[in-house]
Amino acid sequence: MNRVPILHSTDIDRAVSCLASGGLVALPTETVYGLGAAINKPEAINRIFNVKGRPTNHPLIVHVSDWDMALPLISEPLHEYVKALVSAFTPGPITFILPKSVALSDAITGGQNSVGIRIPNHPVTHLILQQLGVAVAAPSANKFGEVSPTSALHVFNDLNDVLNPDRDAIMDGGESEIGLESTIVDCRSDVPKILRPGAITEEMIREVVGTVESVETPDIRVSGALEKHYSPRAIVRIINSFEEVKNTMSQVGFIALEQVPTPLNTIRLAMPQHAIEFAQVLYDALRKADDLNLQEVYVVVPEDRGIGIAIRDRVTRAAH
Ligand code: TXA
Ligand code: MG
Repeated sequence: MNRVPILHSTDIDRAVSCLASGGLVALPTETVYGLGAAINKPEAINRIFNVKGRPTNHPLIVHVSDWDMALPLISEPLHEYVKALVSAFTPGPITFILPKSVALSDAITGGQNSVGIRIPNHPVTHLILQQLGVAVAAPSANKFGEVSPTSALHVFNDLNDVLNPDRDAIMDGGESEIGLESTIVDCRSDVPKILRPGAITEEMIREVVGTVESVETPDIRVSGALEKHYSPRAIVRIINSFEEVKNTMSQVGFIALEQVPTPLNTIRLAMPQHAIEFAQVLYDALRKADDLNLQEVYVVVPEDRGIGIAIRDRVTRAAH
């Protein structure tokens, strides 16, 4: 069977030529792995949707090496606070929704007049974007609705059967440092609005801008905001007490901070020491549940502050 090549992190040239010739390359970022196509390769952009099984009206995030590369893709004037957010948090785990320029194709933005811009903080992907000199559209490198990948192996397991070994590649950049998708901030009105929580928290944004809103159900198409998303095959449940585990008949996986003891008759899938580590290992632990063919996974989420808010958001959607 043909296998899609997994490139070593030093093989920047090969990743760049793959993108330049219209192939798809799975790229490491600090949040999760993305499935990238150069924005000037329309056929490659279309293939992203096929490979993921993603509806074509869901917009893609456009990744750039620095703010200058973003400028031709957006339409000015921007609100003053955008500059402050860009300088405070980029490169980093944040995506800005901005008015798009006419140059940017509808296929990338799902027909919307806005674009999501992200400057990822990963040395390998930074070099690839810089050498390519063209922005790269990339959703998370998983099948639509399933768990995002935080390693090259996750991507391989999810997409090897649908990628083309002669044209596409997976770039191995190690495990994603954060483990949850970027914070998405809509920057089109006077006050920035958080559409998807992430490692850059509401408090962090408020400190820079003064005001910020969090939107429960955004009315624009943020697929990560669909009620059900980020789901393994196993049924996910958020629990608060062990009593809820007692009467289960099925094989149950268990994810909680180290300080929470493992209930009897459950299989411990992760025991991170703090919320930051919880975010790092969560998706791998949910994937383990499926590898072990568990029917259910019970999760005790960390406190609702800092990255804990994004953790609860993703586990809640996985549980829906
Ligand atoms: O951390 C991340 O953001 C990762 C890495 C690869 O950068 N990407 C990611 O992409 O999570 P994706 O496609 O799985 O989720 C991005 C979300 C989607 O839900 C999409 O609908 C939303 O961003 N989005 C992109 N452009 C948008 C736009 N113009 N308006 C509203 N939502 C947008
Ligand atoms: Mg995704």
